[in-house]
Amino acid sequence: MIALGCDHGGFELMQEVKEHLAKSGVEFRDFGTDSDAATDYPIYAKRVAKAVLSGECEKGILICGTGIGISITANKFKGIRCALCHDVFSAEATRQHNDANVLAMGGRVVGPGLALMIVDTFLNTPFSNAPRHINRIRQMETEEE
Ligand code: RB5
Repeated sequence: MIALGCDHGGFELMQEVKEHLAKSGVEFRDFGTDSDAATDYPIYAKRVAKAVLSGECEKGILICGTGIGISITANKFKGIRCALCHDVFSAEATRQHNDANVLAMGGRVVGPGLALMIVDTFLNTPFSNAPRHINRIRQMETEEE
């Protein structure tokens, strides 16, 4: 189950993502927003972060205008590793290296063709499980060096 959240800046692109996931047979839960009316991206980042942390959803996808505000908010949650990706290489690398559990994109930055490739790459690339990456991810969670 994939958790989806967007603000008005990401609403249009999220409709494309939803259609694509439905066609691909990927189950998702839509945490809003449900129109292009102006709203506040932290609301949706928080809903998606909580759904991933609770285990209800295995991963999340967040879209705002730039992807920045919504990813910053999601990353305030301990255990969320939200990667802002606007290219396929980064989407693949963040799964392999960072075990990112939330993908963020900017609806005003990427077009739907590239965005859907990024989504597929993010959802289908496994974590490498390499000890060095596991160790670095563990280091993210503490202030000690
Ligand atoms: C909304 O206008 C815009 O600020 C928001 O979608 C996002 O880009 C913030 O980081």
